[in-house]
Amino acid sequence: MNLADLNKVALAMVAPGKGLLAADESSGTIKKRFDAINVESTEENRRDYREMLFRSGEAMKQYISGVILYDETIWQNAKDGTPLVKIIEQSGAIPGIKVDEGTQALPNCPGELVTVGLDKLAERLKKYYERGARFAKWRAVIDVGGDGTDGRAVPTMTAIHVNAHALARYAALCQAAQIVPIVEPEVLMDGDHDIERCYEVSQRVLNKTFQELRIQRVALEGMILKPNMAISGKKCAKQASVEEVAEKTIRLLKACVPAAVPGIAFLSGGQSDEDATAHLDAMNRIGGLPWRLTFSYGRALQAAPQKAWSGKAENAAAGQRAFAHRARMNSLACNGEWQADLEKQKAA
Ligand code: 13P
Repeated sequence: MNLADLNKVALAMVAPGKGLLAADESSGTIKKRFDAINVESTEENRRDYREMLFRSGEAMKQYISGVILYDETIWQNAKDGTPLVKIIEQSGAIPGIKVDEGTQALPNCPGELVTVGLDKLAERLKKYYERGARFAKWRAVIDVGGDGTDGRAVPTMTAIHVNAHALARYAALCQAAQIVPIVEPEVLMDGDHDIERCYEVSQRVLNKTFQELRIQRVALEGMILKPNMAISGKKCAKQASVEEVAEKTIRLLKACVPAAVPGIAFLSGGQSDEDATAHLDAMNRIGGLPWRLTFSYGRALQAAPQKAWSGKAENAAAGQRAFAHRARMNSLACNGEWQADLEKQKAA
């Protein structure tokens, strides 16, 4: 492992004013997104859609540091035969790859999941590196439910432990293959829990994750953390303000994330496009942090371009404009320079 080079890539992933485009939806997830815009999820449509994003010239160049790809996409060529990976590289962004293989039910823990995909991971990483991937992603999913009074609090210690263990095993394998791991322990915002409960669960998850990373000798300088924010559950009656989300998320991260980690790139997790931007902006306004804070958004970067494109080649320019707008808004948020009234410029 060459840690200096890993650190260089990690810093480039969180370069000032830039963030990651998470375009690594599995076939099942992209089908759901395409269903919502009445587009059939064929291999060609998936390619055309992603090619449109990767070819949005200035937006990619100015605001996107790297793109997380799905296995299908990393091997795909653009319509003119150019590998999609080359198009990403030509824009100055770094290609990355999602390497987990989804989730499975966790035995003895009803309703909870463990992320799988460690078998043969070393060999797969080698092939991805040869194809151009310089970073990878593995997502653990932690559900929040119950308050423990009935003895069935979710998440269980078991789910937190096995997922943290797997994240660290993945991260160590990545670094051995000279690939920067994005470590993503996602606490879902799907329930009716309040922000305090999200904070408490996220703290346990992050602490366990960093404990496992230490045990497995992962070099923190050569990784990126992709966490959820401390945020109210979607169905919680009391929704925390932008300021509260920013303040609590910063407090959470300061308590749990060592300063040796070069950067933190948030997931959007089902927040509205504008909320995801406003939260990132408010955190960067607080400032004085040991790590760079940026975005690694899927839905919050792609919902608008998907809608604008809607599967029609003649809408490609409109899709690219919608993508450029969201990318620019999030780039401003990386510097604490976003303002709500800039959102009106989207048609410009
Ligand atoms: P969302 O921003 O849509 O949550 O996706 C980010 C991601 O990569 C989840 O693994």
